[in-house]
Amino acid sequence: MPLPKAELHLHIEGTLEPELAFALAARNGITLPWTDTEALREAYRFQDLQSFLDLYYELMAVLRTEQDFADLADAYLARAAAQGVRHAEIFFDPQAHLARGVDMATVVEGLWRALGTSRERHGVSTRLILCFLRDESAASALDTLRLAEPFLDRITGVGLDSAEVGHPPAAFREVYEAAAALGLRRVAHAGEEGPPEYITEALDVLGIERVDHGLRCVEDPELVARLVRDRVPLTLCPLSNVRLRTVDTLADHPLPAMLDAGLMCTVNSDDPAYFGGYAGDNFDAVQATLGLTGERLRELARNSFLASFLEDDEELRASYLAEVEAYEFGAAVS
Ligand code: HPA
Ligand code: ZN
Repeated sequence: MPLPKAELHLHIEGTLEPELAFALAARNGITLPWTDTEALREAYRFQDLQSFLDLYYELMAVLRTEQDFADLADAYLARAAAQGVRHAEIFFDPQAHLARGVDMATVVEGLWRALGTSRERHGVSTRLILCFLRDESAASALDTLRLAEPFLDRITGVGLDSAEVGHPPAAFREVYEAAAALGLRRVAHAGEEGPPEYITEALDVLGIERVDHGLRCVEDPELVARLVRDRVPLTLCPLSNVRLRTVDTLADHPLPAMLDAGLMCTVNSDDPAYFGGYAGDNFDAVQATLGLTGERLRELARNSFLASFLEDDEELRASYLAEVEAYEFGAAVS
């Protein structure tokens, strides 16, 4: 039985496996520029975040109907459940779909077909987080929030993603204030490729409650001290960092040092179809390569539930935390 965990950094569009992409393309009468799934997988060699994003946005063309989004999310939830994910807070990128003529209702209602039945079908509780694209304008983000207002019973929070360098968080102050006024929780990608200053700015200007990635905080000791003091959760994605060359190899990942420093780290998958693994694969990889002990893995799992937006169901959080504490590691983990 895998270690129970929450997934807090997961782009649903990044769970689109090549097989499903071709199946949806066929269903929607779309011709993809790759001959088959193998040729598509060959394209998964990224130099940096932007080279990944180019393919990520291109392949989204196959997502057109509510059922497409439902099938995408259901496939993710089944895989996540098999790897011990008990709770998933799922990002989606509505602007990328609106730009292709797919409206907000299609995206949210489609995702909800899978999320609304996930606890019964997969034993996974879920929350939905709407992400703004930081390489689009602040006005576009505000328009997107307005379009989402009819669906706020299904949306827990807002996030900020896409190309980071050159797109500091402060431009999105107004839309984050509007989101907070609507009762939405706030997170943002910061310090993935961008400098530690973007993390500080996202905390100070956007009022974020978790930092997505946050890896580059290690370059700023004062920022690390603040994150430790305030117990600000970081949603790290180790296999993503390797594939996007944010770290040279997994063995170079600063996760162990970050845990030793007292940072509230969590381990997540980001875009698992593209980066070589789901949440459990990321846990397995850091255990095998970075030599994390069972107690460190338990700490990561505990943090994932403590950092999750389960304030509306503390009983459920407590039951997940009890499962984490009771978990017994096999002989392979010291
Ligand atoms: N970083 C920023 N934006 C993203 C990512 C990521 O890893 N995945 C999907 N959108
Ligand atoms: Zn991400």
